[in-house]
Amino acid sequence: MIHTIRSMQKAKLEGRKLQMLTCYDYQTACMFNQTEIDLLLVGDSLGNVVLGYDTTVEVTLDEMKIFGAAVTRGAPDKFVVLDMPFGSYATLEDGLKNAIDLFQKTKAQALKIEGANPINLSLVTRLVETGIPVMGHIGLQPQSVHSQGGYFKHGKDESARTRIMDEAKKLEAAGCFSVVLEFVEETLASDISANIKIPTIGIGSGTGVDGQVLVINDLLGMGEKAPGFVKPIANLFQMKKELIEKYLQ
Ligand code: KIV
Repeated sequence: MIHTIRSMQKAKLEGRKLQMLTCYDYQTACMFNQTEIDLLLVGDSLGNVVLGYDTTVEVTLDEMKIFGAAVTRGAPDKFVVLDMPFGSYATLEDGLKNAIDLFQKTKAQALKIEGANPINLSLVTRLVETGIPVMGHIGLQPQSVHSQGGYFKHGKDESARTRIMDEAKKLEAAGCFSVVLEFVEETLASDISANIKIPTIGIGSGTGVDGQVLVINDLLGMGEKAPGFVKPIANLFQMKKELIEKYLQ
């Protein structure tokens, strides 16, 4: 089934959890296209797991275009969400121009932006008016790792809880069709999910959300290590190493 923003809304109303995984390349996209996965995310996490960058801050618009287009070519029957990279939406004008360019060149079904500052909120509204669905992303925002002060669980104290709840409501009001809650304290993630009408997609935020997203490389154990909240279902790093060692003998 090909999802639309309306079928995702329906899934939330019916209590059916959405499943999203990241995807960065054509062959993996072809594989996903034959599965029941609800959503694919061409996340800027590709900077970490594919390109070996320290942070997602280094990812460029051109890189997102190349990986995004590869995924939509391989998974024509899936709803593909693409991250707008760091700096590409720092102003409303840049955000509009870059979003339209990314959306057209990659043929993704939606774009994702991190944060809920006033520029982002105006951008969401303008993009939705232009015809581009937008997924929000709050809590831990890897593009703001330096200004947030590192990688940690968000929403532990009352003021942070109030702020994050407020951000979720503002993103919904601005027109987002869904919002990612990354590394948000579990009870807060669950409260947000109950207090907004659009589906929440959690990562490291407990089970009280409307859907889950994971980085495929972490799930399949493709790297040497994965974040603590992920239970890898395989160790592809080791398996590939053993196969290559066998081949080399
Ligand atoms: O870039 C990414 O993979 C993401 C997910 C972690 C939500 O934004």
